[in-house]
Amino acid sequence: MDWPRGLDGLSYGGDYNPEQWPEEVWDDDVLLMREAGVNLVTVGVFSWARLEPREGEYDFAWLDTVLDKLHAGGIRVNLATPTASPPPWFTLAHPDALNVRADGVRQVHGSRDTYDVCAPAYREASRRIAAALAERYAEHPALAMWHVHNEYGSTSYSEHAERAFRVWLEAKYGTLEALNAAWWGSFWSQHYGEWDQVLAPRATQYLANPAHELDFKRFTSDAMLEHYKEQRDLLREANPEVPITTNFVFGQWVPVDPWKWAPEVDLVAFDSYPSHPDERAEQQSALHADLSRSWAGGDWLLMEQAAATVHSKDGAVAKTPGRMARHSMVHISRGSKGAMFFQWRAGRGGAEQWHSALLPHAGKNTRMFREVTEFGNTLPGIAHTVGEPVDATVAVLWSPESWWATSGAHLPAPVDYLENVAQIHRVLRDRGVVADFASPEGDLSKYATVIAPTTYVLSKAAAENLRWFTAGGGRLVASYLTGAVDEHCQVWLDGYLGGLTDLFGVRVTEHLPQPAGERRALWNFGAAERFCELVELRGAQCVTQYATGDLVEGQPAVTVNPFGEGEAWYVSCKLADDAWDRLFEELELAGPGGPGLDVVDRGPWRFIVNHTDQEAQVGHIIVPAGSWAVDKKPQ
Ligand code: GAL
Repeated sequence: MDWPRGLDGLSYGGDYNPEQWPEEVWDDDVLLMREAGVNLVTVGVFSWARLEPREGEYDFAWLDTVLDKLHAGGIRVNLATPTASPPPWFTLAHPDALNVRADGVRQVHGSRDTYDVCAPAYREASRRIAAALAERYAEHPALAMWHVHNEYGSTSYSEHAERAFRVWLEAKYGTLEALNAAWWGSFWSQHYGEWDQVLAPRATQYLANPAHELDFKRFTSDAMLEHYKEQRDLLREANPEVPITTNFVFGQWVPVDPWKWAPEVDLVAFDSYPSHPDERAEQQSALHADLSRSWAGGDWLLMEQAAATVHSKDGAVAKTPGRMARHSMVHISRGSKGAMFFQWRAGRGGAEQWHSALLPHAGKNTRMFREVTEFGNTLPGIAHTVGEPVDATVAVLWSPESWWATSGAHLPAPVDYLENVAQIHRVLRDRGVVADFASPEGDLSKYATVIAPTTYVLSKAAAENLRWFTAGGGRLVASYLTGAVDEHCQVWLDGYLGGLTDLFGVRVTEHLPQPAGERRALWNFGAAERFCELVELRGAQCVTQYATGDLVEGQPAVTVNPFGEGEAWYVSCKLADDAWDRLFEELELAGPGGPGLDVVDRGPWRFIVNHTDQEAQVGHIIVPAGSWAVDKKPQ
C-alpha cells in the first residue's frame, strides 16, 4: 500500500491542533504551512471532547472546515482517532473504564491516557468514535492516512484487565496444571486451584512471581493490540485504500512488543525523543531510526520529534541551529519517509504550553521558523532517494521479553536491558556500522554477524534459531545472562546459555554480581562492571581472561568457539563501551562513519550527517560543520 496516500516524496509536518485556536488562525496556519514546505499534518489526536461533546452527539463542523481548508491548501491529513484521551463525560459515566495502577490507585481524568483497554465501556466508546470518523471522513480527499490512538501505554491492573488476563491465560495454557507448571507454582504456595484465583500482578508484600509478571506484560501488549485492531478494522472497512498506523516509542512509555504489532500496521511510525542533551541525542536518534526500520522491515515514518529542544530528566535544552535538520536527516537517512514533529503551532495553554513547535509562540519572524522553512524546502530535493533500502550486515537482537523479564527486582544484580541494547548500537554506530535489529526468533539469514546483548529470555525456538544461524556460517556474539531462562522465566539448567553450551563451547557455572562501581579488569580489554560469570571452557578458545577479582582471576572472560560453518563468541560480563569497541575492532566491524558522523549508504546514494564543528570529508563528499549531504555513493 502506498503511504501516506498522495505523498510520493518525503512527508514534513506535525501534530496540528486547530481546535485550540479561533477559526481566523486556521487560514494563517495553512499559508504558513505552505511557506514552510509542510505537506502532512496529524489532526485530532486528543480531540475526543470536541468531536463528541456528549455521548453519541457529534460535532464535526469544525473538523470539516479544517480538513477542507487543508485540502484547499494542498496539505495532506493524517487523521487520528482520539481514544488516547477520553472526555470527562465518559470517565464520569464509566469510572470503571479508568486505568488502575499496580498499587491499586484508580487514575482520574485531568491529564490524558486515562483508559483501560479491557473495560467494555471504553472499548465500545472507542469503536463508536472510530466508526463515526470513518463514516464521515473515509472518502475525504485530504485523507492520507489514519493514526489510531496515540502511543499505546496505559497498563491497567483493574478487574476488567484481570478477567481478560484469565481468558488469555486459559487460551495460552489450556489447563491450570500447565499454568502452575509454567509459573513454578509450588514456590511460596502459589499453586492455583481455579482460574478465578489468578490476579493481575498488583503491588504485593515482597517479590512477585517473574513468570506471572512476564505473562501479564505479554497480555497487556496483546490487549492493547486488540483495541488497536478493532479500530483499524472499522477504518479499513470504510476505505481499504487508506493506510493505517499508530505511533511507537522506545522504552517503558509504550510497553508493547513491536515484533507482534508491526505486521498489523500499514507503516511503522515512531516518536523519537532523545533523553540526553549531549552527543548521546544523536546516538539515540540513530538507535530509534534503526529500530523502527527493523520493525517495519523497510521504510517507516518519524511521526514525532521536538523541533527546538532536547528533553532530559533535568529539563529541556535548546537545540543549536541546524540540529533539528540533522536529527531529521539521521532518521530520513535510516529509512524514514519524512520528518514529522510534535507540534505545528506552540500552544498558549495546557500542560504542553512550553513544548517547542515548528511555529513558535513568537510567530513566523523567528529563527526557529526560518530554520524550519529552510529545511522543509530542501526536502523535495532529496525525494528521489525514497524507498532505497538501507543495507546492513550486522543485526542486534532486540527482545522485548528479555527487557520485561530483566525489569524484575529478583535478579542477581540490576540489569538495564534497554541500556545494554543501546550500548551495542552506539558503539557500532560510533565505529561507522549501520546495524539492523532482529527478533531472537526472526530470520537472521541475511546477516554476517548477530549480536545478542543480555538476551536473558531464550525460548527453545530462539535457541534453535541461533544454532542454525551459526552452523550456517554466521558469527554470533552473546553477552552475559544470555539464555539464562526460558520463555517461562525458568532457569536453563546445566550451564545456562539457553542450552547452547555446545554452540558456545562453554558452560556458565556461576553468576558473580559485584558492588556498583567495582570493576574487574580484563587482560587487554578494559574492565567488567557490576556483573561477571564463572565460565568453564568446553571446546572454546579464551580470547581474554579476567586479570583481577576473587574467583575469576585467570578465568575466561571472552571466548570464541567454531561451530559448523560459523563461530560463537561469548562475553561473560558487562563490558564498558571502550571494551566493546576493542572487541568490535577484533571482529573487524567498521564503516565509513564515526562518532559525530553518520554515514548511511542506500542503493546508489550516500547520506552523510556531520554533527561535529569541523568540515568532514568522506570519499569525494565534503560536508560543512554541523550540516548534511546526500550524494552518489562511490562505486
Ligand atoms: C509524545 C506525545 C505527544 C506530545 C509529545 C511531547 O509522547 O505523543 O502528544 O505529548 O510527547 O513531547
